[in-house]
Amino acid sequence: MNEKFQPLFEEFSFKNMTVKNRIVMAPMTNFLSKPDGTVTENELNYYGRRSDGPGMVITACTYTVPNGKGFPGEFAGDRDEMIPSLKSLADTIKGKGAKAVLQIFHGGRECPPNLVPDGDVVSASDVKSSQAGERKVPRPLTGEEINEIIKSFGETTRRAIEAGYDGVEIHGANGYLLQQFFSGESNLRNDEWGGSLEKRMKFPMAVVDEVKKAAEKADRPFLVGYRFSPEEPYENGITMDDTLALLDELSKKDLDYLHVSLMEYDSKVRRGADIDRSRLEVIQERVGEKVPVIGVGSVYTAEDALNAMESGVPLVAIGRGLIIEPDWVQKVENGRENEIETELDLEAQDRLVVPDPLWNAIVNSPGWFPGVK
Ligand SMILES: Cc1cc2nc3c(=O)[nH]c(=O)nc-3n(C[C@H](O)[C@H](O)[C@H](O)COP(=O)(O)O)c2cc1C
Repeated sequence: MNEKFQPLFEEFSFKNMTVKNRIVMAPMTNFLSKPDGTVTENELNYYGRRSDGPGMVITACTYTVPNGKGFPGEFAGDRDEMIPSLKSLADTIKGKGAKAVLQIFHGGRECPPNLVPDGDVVSASDVKSSQAGERKVPRPLTGEEINEIIKSFGETTRRAIEAGYDGVEIHGANGYLLQQFFSGESNLRNDEWGGSLEKRMKFPMAVVDEVKKAAEKADRPFLVGYRFSPEEPYENGITMDDTLALLDELSKKDLDYLHVSLMEYDSKVRRGADIDRSRLEVIQERVGEKVPVIGVGSVYTAEDALNAMESGVPLVAIGRGLIIEPDWVQKVENGRENEIETELDLEAQDRLVVPDPLWNAIVNSPGWFPGVK
């Protein structure tokens, strides 16, 4: 190995668990599960091909209740019957030597109506998403329903423990339900769940508390992480100073890690903090030593990963880079970093083990992946 990349290969210890290196596979939805929510052989092959390099693999998101299903082919974590399916995925990842973390999720207003029971799309308030695809004006959740969804995150955590995962990651990012409650653009409530910044944080914090409670019952070390998106473009949306306040609260929750969601690790602050600085640096500075932070975003080369770590984060997640180059970690480890593929080889679907639904989504979205025009 080229010595300068050694920092990527140091072990990292969470409070109660050690991972073999600093590279994490980012959670990526793959559209590969069956309509009933069970994982498929194709999906296991796709993960198996990518799990022998990174120290930790975070799965695609799984829904905790039926009205949280946000994607066709999303796998289910909403009922005990799914435990064998969840277990097959955990076994595949762990069998290759990585820690397996299940990402748990509710899509809220981003759920396509045809994927949720009776087309009943729910959110904090009746504010329609501006994302592409079929979206409808969501129905604001009642207080009772909010409490049920909070409980469902705890129940899915229990299932993750039974299925053998090493942890769960709460999906509070990318505009889904937890973020919809936190954002002033999508949460117009005037009850205990909205109105002020503190009240908008209440739902995500209640989910964290419920998940922690379930995780404490594990008979072995079990990680709980939280993923967040630091800024929204909308006028009333989340600003960096809102996020710094959220991080202060999350830092008190005894979480194992915080995981930012960014498309570029060196992207600059938009508003609400110093706009000349990178978001990752500002976030790492605020969180400090309290909780480990995972950075992410357009890491394709070994140099990119080192640069991301220069902001002070101990761990770096790679998403698209591991679809394009399943042997990313091994190539760096063996001094072959110059052989890393950084653009998708459009002729290499079989070699890369990217089954059809995911492959088609990628190749039909120009600009999403390097090499796809
Ligand atoms: C195909 C695909 C699916 C994704 N699905 C999820 C997901 O289920 N949960 C999540 O938190 N982020 C998801 N993301 C975002 C990634 O985790 C990551 O933050 C983003 O792709 C930037 O990292 P990268 O440049 O290394 O790909 C997805 C990204 C891609 C490309």
